[in-house]
Amino acid sequence: MKKILLLVLALSLVVVFASGCQPADEGTEPREFTGFDSLEEAAVSEAWQDYFPNQYATYLETAEMVRTTYGGSGEDGEKMDYLEMYPFLKSTYAGFPFSVSYYRSRGHVYSLTDTLETGRLPDLETRPATCLSCKSTDVVVLQDKYGDEWYSRSFAEVVGDNAIGCLDCHDANDASVTYQRDYLTKALEQNTFRNINPEGRADLTCAQCHVNYHFNPETREPVLPWSIGLTVEDQFEHYNQGPRYNDEWEHEITGALVAKVQHPEYELYHEGQIQSVHSAIGMGCTDCHMPAVTDADGNEFTSHRWTTPLEHIEDSCLTCHSDWGAEGIIERTEGVQSGVYEQQNRVGYELEEFILAVGEARENDTVSAEELERLQAIHREAQFYWDFIWVENSNGFHNWEEAHRVLGNVEELLEEAWSILE
Ligand code: HEC
Ligand code: HEC
Ligand code: HEC
Ligand code: HEC
Repeated sequence: MKKILLLVLALSLVVVFASGCQPADEGTEPREFTGFDSLEEAAVSEAWQDYFPNQYATYLETAEMVRTTYGGSGEDGEKMDYLEMYPFLKSTYAGFPFSVSYYRSRGHVYSLTDTLETGRLPDLETRPATCLSCKSTDVVVLQDKYGDEWYSRSFAEVVGDNAIGCLDCHDANDASVTYQRDYLTKALEQNTFRNINPEGRADLTCAQCHVNYHFNPETREPVLPWSIGLTVEDQFEHYNQGPRYNDEWEHEITGALVAKVQHPEYELYHEGQIQSVHSAIGMGCTDCHMPAVTDADGNEFTSHRWTTPLEHIEDSCLTCHSDWGAEGIIERTEGVQSGVYEQQNRVGYELEEFILAVGEARENDTVSAEELERLQAIHREAQFYWDFIWVENSNGFHNWEEAHRVLGNVEELLEEAWSILE
C-alpha cells in the first residue's frame, strides 16, 4: 500500500515538472463541495476524493489486511478460510452453501470482489440482485431509479464496479452523514429497541449491513428480523412466527428446519438482554472504529479505515483506559475474547457431536417419533443461538457477558438432548 502511494506521488511530481508548472499551494487545498449532479456520479467514491482527501485516503486503507490474536482479516493477502480453521462448520451448516465456501470478512474495498468470487452462491444469472444490498453504492442508484422492483432482478443485471463507499453513508447533495437503505428505515419504524434510542445515531450507518437479515419471500427485499425485538431470543421468535424464509433449510443430517444467522454486530453490541458496558455508557460503533485522527498539517478528521481497533488503540481506547496502558488494553481485551472464543468453539464441537448422534439415531431408529421431534426442535433453537454468537465478528468483545449467557443456554439445551439420546 505504502509503495503504491509513493509511486503515485512520484508520478504526479513527474507530471507537474514535465508540464513546467510550479507546484502551487492552492493546488493542494481540497475543492469546496457543492454536491453532485447525479447519484451515478456520487456512487463512484473516487469522485469524492478532491473534496475530502483525508477521508478518502483512509477509506483506501481498508485494503490493508492484518491479523490479531482473535480477529483481523488475514495475513500476506491470504484470506482466512473458516472451513479449514473450524471443521465442525461442515456439520453445523450441512446442506447449506456455508458448508461449501466460507471466508472471514475483510475490508470494505473488497466487498464487491469477494461477493463476485464466492464459491457459495449460484452463478450471476440466477443469483438474486438482493445480494448487492450490502456490497455497493450502486444500490442507492438502483433504489432511486426502480424502487423495490430491482430486488427481483438477477445479480448479473444490476452489478456494477462500485464497492461499499461514500454514498452508502453520506448525502450526495450536502455530504451529511445519513443511512441509505429503506429496509433499515422499515425495521426502525417497528420501534422494538429496549436498551438504546437509535434515533439520530451516527452508527445507524453500520446498521445498514452489520445486522442479521432474511429476504422478504415475495419481493426479495432484505428484512431485519426485529419485529419483536433485537435480542437473540426475540429474533428466534420472529423466525418461528413467519413462513419458512430463504435462509432456513432442512438440515442434511438431523432433518431439523434450521436458520442461518448473519453477522449481528449491531444487535449484540447494543441490544442484548445484557447490554454491553461500552454501549451502556453511550458509545457507538464509530467511537472505536472511526476515531478522530490528525493529518500531516494538524487538521483533525474522522478516520475512515474500518478495521480491528486493536490496530489503533492510541486513538480509540487510551482516551479512557490510559491507566491500563497500551499493553494492558490488549491484554484485557484478549482476556475477555479468549473466554468467548473458547466457549463458542467448544459449543461448536458439541453441536457437531449432537448433530451426528441425532443422524445416527434417525438411521438406526433408536428414538421414537416424539423424541426425534424434540431433538429437532432443540437443534433449531440451539443452532440459532450458537450461530448468533459464532458469526458475530468481534469474537465476543462487543458484548462478552451476553455472549456467555447465550452460549450457556445452548449448553443447557444440549444437555437435555443427551438425556434423550442416551
Ligand atoms: C468499545 C469499542 C468498540 C465498539 C463500540 C465497537 N467495536 Fe467492533 N470491535 C472492537 C474490538 C476491540 C474488536 C476485536 C478486534 C480484534 O479481535 O482484533 C472489534 C471487532 C469488530 C469487527 C471484526 C473486525 C476484525 O477485523 O476482527 C467488526 C466487523 C466490528 N467490530 C464492527 C462493529 C460494529 C458494527 C459496531 C457497532 C454495532 C462495533 N463494532 C462497535 C471494538 C469496538
Ligand atoms: C460506513 C459509513 C461511512 C462511509 C462508507 C463513509 N463515511 Fe464519512 N463519515 C461517516 C460517519 C459516521 C461520520 C461522522 C463521524 C462522527 O461524527 O462521529 C463521517 C464523517 C465524514 C466527514 C465529516 C468530517 C470528518 O472527518 O468527520 C466527511 C467529510 C466524510 N465523512 C467523507 C467521506 C468520504 C469522502 C467517504 C468515501 C471515501 C466516506 N465519508 C465514507 C460514515 C461513513
Ligand atoms: C453497505 C454495507 C456496509 C456498511 C454500511 C458498513 N459495512 Fe462494514 N463491512 C461490510 C461488508 C460486506 C464487510 C466484509 C467485506 C469483505 O469481506 O469483502 C465489512 C467489513 C467490515 C469490517 C472488517 C474489516 C477488516 O479488515 O477485517 C469492519 C471493522 C467494519 N466492516 C466496520 C463497519 C463499521 C464500523 C460501519 C459503520 C460506520 C460499517 N462497517 C458499515 C458491509 C458494510
Ligand atoms: C468512553 C470511554 C471508553 C472508551 C473510549 C473505551 N472504553 Fe473500554 N471500558 C469503558 C468502561 C467505562 C468500562 C467498564 C469499567 C471498567 O472495566 O473500567 C470498560 C471496560 C472495558 C473492558 C473490560 C475490562 C475487564 O477486565 O472487565 C475492556 C477489555 C475494554 N473496556 C476494552 C476497550 C477497548 C479495546 C477500547 C478501544 C477499542 C475501549 N475499551 C474503549 C470505557 C471506555
